[in-house]
Amino acid sequence: MSWAPQPGPQASFVTSRVFEVVYGGARGGGKTDAALGDFHLHAATHGAAARGLLVRRQRVALEPTISRARQIFAAGGAVWIQGKSRFEWPNGAVLYFRYLDNDADADLYQGHDYSRVYVEELTQFPNPGPVDKLKATLRSAAGIHCGFRATCNPGGPGHNWVKARYVDLGPRNIVSEPFRNPFDGSVAVLKRLFIPAKLADNPRLMRSDPGYIPRLQQSGSAELVRAWLEGDWNVIQGAFFDKWSNRNIVAPFAIPREWTRIRAFDWGYAAPFSVGWWAVCADDRRLPGGVVLPRGALVRYREWYGCGGRPGEGLRMEAEAVAKGILERENGEKSPVSVADPSIFSEDGGPSIGERMRRCGVRFRPADNTRVGKAGAMSGWDQMRARIAGDETGPMLVVFDTCRDFIRTVPVLQHDRMRMEDLDTTAEDHIADETRYACLTRVFAPRPTVATLTANQLWEREWGRSRHDDGLNWKTL
Ligand SMILES: Nc1ncnc2c1ncn2[C@@H]1O[C@H](COP(=O)(O)OP(=O)(O)OP(=O)(O)O)[C@@H](O)[C@H]1O
Ligand SMILES: [Mg+2]
Repeated sequence: MSWAPQPGPQASFVTSRVFEVVYGGARGGGKTDAALGDFHLHAATHGAAARGLLVRRQRVALEPTISRARQIFAAGGAVWIQGKSRFEWPNGAVLYFRYLDNDADADLYQGHDYSRVYVEELTQFPNPGPVDKLKATLRSAAGIHCGFRATCNPGGPGHNWVKARYVDLGPRNIVSEPFRNPFDGSVAVLKRLFIPAKLADNPRLMRSDPGYIPRLQQSGSAELVRAWLEGDWNVIQGAFFDKWSNRNIVAPFAIPREWTRIRAFDWGYAAPFSVGWWAVCADDRRLPGGVVLPRGALVRYREWYGCGGRPGEGLRMEAEAVAKGILERENGEKSPVSVADPSIFSEDGGPSIGERMRRCGVRFRPADNTRVGKAGAMSGWDQMRARIAGDETGPMLVVFDTCRDFIRTVPVLQHDRMRMEDLDTTAEDHIADETRYACLTRVFAPRPTVATLTANQLWEREWGRSRHDDGLNWKTL
């Protein structure tokens, strides 16, 4: 029996003539089947001119796709050639299965010609670089209509750029955007379309496996399950800063003069740099939205994120120009605490970046760069996480809603797959690093709850002094 799309998104996916179509959302929505089915139809129509490439980020993850592909392609007589990792059709069509981990892997495809490129699990790519290189291979000497097709679920290291580039276009809106060929620099205007995937669009799965939804519901937090079932891109899988919420975003207010100011900096040239301006709340303070800022809370009131047009790409500005930009933004304001990524002080044959900026009037001291604590010690990320969570009074770290790049990049950061206590550094983590430096200038000790207080701490809290104060016989009190 030949494969046929289910009505709805699958049918739109296989009939679309738009160059770039991304089908993303719910798990089990039928995305992989749609991609394979699309090539099955493409091969039947175009024969030897149909040349496809299907990639994933990890080799092992291709296996289940290959076995499903065998079933779908059998109707067209295609056979799997293990040694060449490709399907071959009797009419000459061919579909390669490959894996692609990084930019260098993508370079190997320069000069190749495909009529279809499929990227499975697009959100597993931390940045669009390798994917854009594949896009440049889409051309057909036979003149057939070429297309880029990708599938994905919310979450993963590429959640952010995929959401911005495709999901935020709005469902079913066809958008034209210029595309610069990374190999030869030529520019073309390409059309792009996002198709949202919902589980409800795959009634076949519901009929054949009624236990699927209950199983999904047991396998993750309520939010994660919602993301999987409904393809909700605003729910973030495995967020590193899982206590982040709307109470950490505040409307701008005038920072009182007496509040201490901190300037924190993470340097980047080819990668983005980030400057954050922070103020330390001097006394518990109720903000207009009702949020109470506890004394000692950090307020990010201004930022400068030096990012080029694409995620992960820097502005390539020299140290002197960055220093000048900082002074312009400060307009005479003083930051008594000014910390930066310690690597800017390393000298490599000439004056360090830190020294060059100092000569322009912007002075930093090296920040504490501990990311992960040893055996119970609270360091870098723990500090930042504890501040975001705050205490019963309120959050110990807030950002003005004008700090758009912070809000765009930090809450979506994920855990490192290999090292859960660290964050996935392949995503846009420059603002998080700079925030970590700011947090480590003032160590925050969360107030323990009563259940975790030691006898001594409880005593101190109730009596306002240490149990071991000189001259006091505490037993008699
Ligand atoms: N048109 C179809 N004909 C037959 N079976 C289908 C069709 N569409 C989907 N299915 C079946 O539904 C199940 C889920 O589909 P699929 O694996 O394509 O979902 P997915 O969206 O890629 O899921 P995931 O997010 O987990 O990768 C599979 O068993 C698949 O074979
Ligand atoms: Mg799939």
